[in-house]
Amino acid sequence: MSGGERPGGAVESSRLKGFYKLDVSARVDEIARLAGLDEDDRRVLLGMRGFGLGEADRMIENVIGILPLPIGVAANFKIDGVDRLVPMATEEPSVVAAASNSARRMRDGLGIRTWASEPIMISQIQLTEIPDLERATTAVLAAAPELLADADHGHDRLRAAGGGPRSIECRALPDTRVGPMLVVHLLVDVRDAMGANAVNGMAEALAPRLEALTGGKSCLKILSNYTTERRVGAAVEMSAEEIATANAASVEVANEVEKASALAEADPYRAATHNKGILNGIDAVLLATGQDFRAVEAGAHAWAARNGRYTALATWTRTAAGGIRGELELPLSVGIVGGVTKVHPVVRVALKILGVQSASDLARVAAAAGLAQNFGALHAMATEGIQRGHMSLHARNVAAVAGAEPHEIAAVVREMVDASQVNDGAARAVLTRLRGAVRSDA
Ligand code: MEV
Repeated sequence: MSGGERPGGAVESSRLKGFYKLDVSARVDEIARLAGLDEDDRRVLLGMRGFGLGEADRMIENVIGILPLPIGVAANFKIDGVDRLVPMATEEPSVVAAASNSARRMRDGLGIRTWASEPIMISQIQLTEIPDLERATTAVLAAAPELLADADHGHDRLRAAGGGPRSIECRALPDTRVGPMLVVHLLVDVRDAMGANAVNGMAEALAPRLEALTGGKSCLKILSNYTTERRVGAAVEMSAEEIATANAASVEVANEVEKASALAEADPYRAATHNKGILNGIDAVLLATGQDFRAVEAGAHAWAARNGRYTALATWTRTAAGGIRGELELPLSVGIVGGVTKVHPVVRVALKILGVQSASDLARVAAAAGLAQNFGALHAMATEGIQRGHMSLHARNVAAVAGAEPHEIAAVVREMVDASQVNDGAARAVLTRLRGAVRSDA
């Protein structure tokens, strides 16, 4: 079975029990089996073939090396009824574990539901020195059919894929500090592309005609990363049983999560951290799949401030049944054709594991990961606190740096976390004691 033959990218099950206990190569075998990866893909994941200095040197300028990051697979995701394996690239411990844990709690019932708008990007053409803003606006709007046809010219592949320029809008800015401006928005359906190159090219192509129509002078011709017409959403409703833990009743958890949401909605200081947690999930999916995560971050924060005050991207409300409902919405532009998606071997395999068939599908998965990540953080803070989960992963690194051998790491971590002492000195002390005990047993 190859990844492409999985209907809608589904795997037989994303419930990977005990996956975290396997060694890396056994995990790769399991993912290869589920996602239908071939031997070449396995070798790419295992670092035996893949992204080297040659590829790096063709990708950016002045290359002097490469920076590898771990890719994990978040388990348990059921998105719109489809079991999916979600690759995530991140340097931050706990992110993949928290996403998997939340996705497990979110599996039952309707699971995570998502939606995506049409993939419409906006390109801006800035016009200054306009003699009459109103007349210029009327002239541009009257010429819209002609402008759309001009913008379409030469974009045969996009047209064949069902995309292309869709409409023209004008934003008059009468009062900037350098005088009045007209900003023309060209809205383009970019289908499965991120679309930056196409819409930037179209904006440049239209500029001379817009100058003639308005009597103004064109300046910037560039896409907007505030992709308000290319949005995605995810929602989930969890039952009381799904949110309870051994030590915390569901009612407490639901209350705490709702209170945390209310704070993020009301206070930009908390909203920034709340949204950072959401972007922990989204960015990790975007990085693994070769996307421009800075573009998505820029749009997400602009959206969070759309009403004049920076607020939460996702909100949580208690349900009458004692559970909790969460909703996330943000602008999110991604592509699965062109760019790095075809040339970076690891990205290619990550996309194969995910099995998405369209850019919109990828955006929906990223939104689902963002919502799960947000719940994971709020749930942890509502129950055991964030440090415990963070600590055990951090403690593994501390133990290894202190010289613990692989077979010693679990014991060193356990002792440090139990004593809430995670540092180099504590790790060395535990190691000395463990090794002493082993010697005296011998
Ligand atoms: C840490 O990377 C992310 C959190 O701070 C998010 C949050 O506080 O909601 C845990």
